[in-house]
Amino acid sequence: MKKIRAAITGIHSWVPEYRLTNFELSKMVDTSDEWIMQRVGIKERRILKGEGLGSSDLGANAVIGLLEKTKTSPDEIELLICATITPDMFFPATANIISDKAGIKNAFSFDIGAACSGFLFALQTGAAYVETGKFKKVIVVGADKMSSITDYTDRTTCPLFGDGAGAVLLEPTSEEYGVMDYIFHTDGSGRKYLHMKAGGSIRPASHETVDAKEHYIYQEGQSVFKFAVVNMADVAAEIMERNNLKADDIAWLVPHQANLRIIDATGRRMGLPPEKVMINIQNYGNTTAATIPLCLSDYESHLKKGDKLILAAFGGGFTWGSIYLKWAYDPEKK
Ligand code: UT7
Repeated sequence: MKKIRAAITGIHSWVPEYRLTNFELSKMVDTSDEWIMQRVGIKERRILKGEGLGSSDLGANAVIGLLEKTKTSPDEIELLICATITPDMFFPATANIISDKAGIKNAFSFDIGAACSGFLFALQTGAAYVETGKFKKVIVVGADKMSSITDYTDRTTCPLFGDGAGAVLLEPTSEEYGVMDYIFHTDGSGRKYLHMKAGGSIRPASHETVDAKEHYIYQEGQSVFKFAVVNMADVAAEIMERNNLKADDIAWLVPHQANLRIIDATGRRMGLPPEKVMINIQNYGNTTAATIPLCLSDYESHLKKGDKLILAAFGGGFTWGSIYLKWAYDPEKK
């Protein structure tokens, strides 16, 4: 019997309208367009404005668009997984709220929290359900409202992050398309370099934690950079080697968008020319679990059936990993 694989059969992304530019940021903190472009490569990021809106709204917009685009009824979806580190609330899961907002009634749903690697971990989890043969339509969505945990008085973090969401539909195929292989890692000792200090069970929210600004992203940028640049490049090279893939075989590297210098280093390590590397960090900044589906969505018209893609990410946790994916459709035929 042929192995059942999980193929991406549709993709859609959604970002809010409001653009926070480097110029605007330079009026809020002591920074400049030149510094941000040279060190990180971001021009602007999207921010979700409005009372009562959260990551589920980003995710639900992506999912509703995906259902329309793939002509799928919400009733057909059996499982929805949301990768996020900015859930609407501690519980219930943001995936449940997205399902409700998108009219998905027959699915079970849950969240995965693996920071910037969240979409990759969620994609593989969704694929594993499809590969059992029991699930025919699974949605995986990465959604993060990073502006909700960003301190806009801290110049070392506020230029980096933005809000966005991207969703994919996974369906079974007996052909050689879809998720082909994955390599994932975590190292919890890295948590000291990148975390949120309060609001969890160790240090619940109090007046003191709010006054001390402990509900924002804390990052030791240089330390995270050193781990990210080595590990993201290593894991991408490792998955190529394990699957006997040479640079010429690969159509695209789809890297997590945290810093252009990390992306460039990964592409170089894989021996890929820059034109084979998906980059949109300049438009959105680091949207955490949404960067990879946002890239796939922006580049969808360039993708062809059979294209070999390497997805790679590194993020808080530490978490990092890579997926080898064979693209399953020609977009113009959709
Ligand atoms: O996606 C989750 C995983 N996260 C990442 O992958 C992020 C990894 N880290 C990075 O991308 C980089 O470390 C940053 C972009 C966060 C920072 O870049 P860097 O080249 O490591 O800068 P740095 O922290 O070493 O700071 C260099 C200088 C410092 O000034 P001095 O001490 O040299 O005088 C900073 O105070 O740049 C200063 N600086 C800024 N200057 C203008 C820091 N932030 C800013 C800013 N504008 N926004």
